[in-house]
Amino acid sequence: MTEAIQQLILDTLDKDGSIKDTRTLVLPGHSEAAATHDAQIIILGALNSLSSREMITYETHETMSHVLTEEGASIALSGSHEARVWAAVPTKGQGSPLTPKELEQALGSEIAKVGQGRAFKNKWIVKEGGGLVKLAASIDDTTQKDMREVDSTGTLKAGEKALADLRKRKLIAQKKGQWFNVYKGPHFSTSTAKPETDLTVDMLTSGAWKTSTFKKYNFEAEGIPTNGGVLHPLLKVREEIRNIFLEMGFAEMPTSSFVESAFWCFDSLFVPQQHPAREVQDTFYLSDPSKSLTPPADYYAKVAKVHEHGGYGSNGYRAPWSDEESHRLLLRTHTTASSSAMLWKLAARCRGEEEDVDVHALSAHSGTTRKAKGSGGGDGFRPAKLFSIDRVFRNETMDATHLAEFHQVEGVVADRDLTLADLIGFMRVFFTKMGIENIRFKPAYNPYTEPSLEIFAFHPQLNKWVEVGNSGMFRPEMLEPMGFPKDVHVHGWGIGLERPTMIRYGISNIRTLVGHKVSVESVEKSPAVRF
Ligand code: PHE
Repeated sequence: MTEAIQQLILDTLDKDGSIKDTRTLVLPGHSEAAATHDAQIIILGALNSLSSREMITYETHETMSHVLTEEGASIALSGSHEARVWAAVPTKGQGSPLTPKELEQALGSEIAKVGQGRAFKNKWIVKEGGGLVKLAASIDDTTQKDMREVDSTGTLKAGEKALADLRKRKLIAQKKGQWFNVYKGPHFSTSTAKPETDLTVDMLTSGAWKTSTFKKYNFEAEGIPTNGGVLHPLLKVREEIRNIFLEMGFAEMPTSSFVESAFWCFDSLFVPQQHPAREVQDTFYLSDPSKSLTPPADYYAKVAKVHEHGGYGSNGYRAPWSDEESHRLLLRTHTTASSSAMLWKLAARCRGEEEDVDVHALSAHSGTTRKAKGSGGGDGFRPAKLFSIDRVFRNETMDATHLAEFHQVEGVVADRDLTLADLIGFMRVFFTKMGIENIRFKPAYNPYTEPSLEIFAFHPQLNKWVEVGNSGMFRPEMLEPMGFPKDVHVHGWGIGLERPTMIRYGISNIRTLVGHKVSVESVEKSPAVRF
């Protein structure tokens, strides 16, 4: 259709030199000239396409025309109210007069009421014997005629006064329209073949370039958006949190071992071998290889002994120790598995061994809530502040807020004589730096910490307290077998990464943040994180 209209315009220009009024064009497949608003819109599309190729130029003229309202359209179709009343009542002397009630039933109360008034005024009907009968033998429904005229021509020959009257009666409304006059452009031709967009080798060798028409460069075009790399929201939040730790003098722990032994994930943390968290519905175990290397023999023996018989002030679990259970390989369920292995390394000098990782070289010891008491004491201990942000895995049923893998943010602080007040003070500083000032603590239970605290933050949008973390003072029966002196205390805590990110970005389903359903566009457009 558009091609045919374009051709019509070009042919008309070729024949007449110009088009004075596009309302005179007779569009393909039509018998009448294109006087209507809709027809001019279609013509405008064709004009724009031709003028972009500089084949034509055109000028726009605004007009004001009229269209029928819903009521006007129904009159054009079924007649005016008064004509419908006249048609409904019987001719005098033929049949019984129609009562006003019957009329209302036949036409509806609105048409019956308005129509009756006008029909009386026009002397089309009279009252007779408590009912209505025709007075005029025939009528001329001028309103319907007017409606039909406006509908087909957009105006009335009768002129503006008649139009104003119909507008007042809300039967017609004004509508802006446009029409155009059209001239030949610099690249006028009667052929609508699309202009070339590129100069090709073929055109050069064949010489076709001499006669081809080329599309003009559009220097106003916005161009294709550049595709720079962006950080996923989770990585942005992770980077922010990492910066908070670094600013507080923490060093990052290596956490690349997604696969751990049950020994580091559970046993070293004094989690009993019969603990429900160890069961297959909560933990993913490896089938191949299924058995870990043997942990450091001395330490292993001490851990086994604490579990089975107690020690370091603890009664132990008084349950048989299983080597097999301790050697099972699994996907770590918390990053505390890595923290524990790191603490054991940290205690190397206290055991009189060489350190194989210089944990202390990483740690800056500045900006904490308390001054580190530090080394000294002749036992080789040096304080440390360590953190990690990495993946953990749990055999969860996945839903809108749970995945089988997620991230934990974790930190441990080791120093002499640390107290619970240090932990609480640290938490307040840490969360304030994350933009969360309103926090509360609730006593909790972890097999490896005593006391343990859950951390709750007030969520202003949800208007309630939500759990944001878990923390505690590591137990002596966990620390002393590693070789730490009695006065060295370690506090630690873990918080999620996904939940604060979801809150920050207003994401209600975790699967739109992580996994194959993440839209790259939403990642590209997500705002920079602000803590
Ligand atoms: N491992 C705990 C968790 O997964 C967090 C924690 C870390 C608690 C360190 C206390 C000390 O929730």
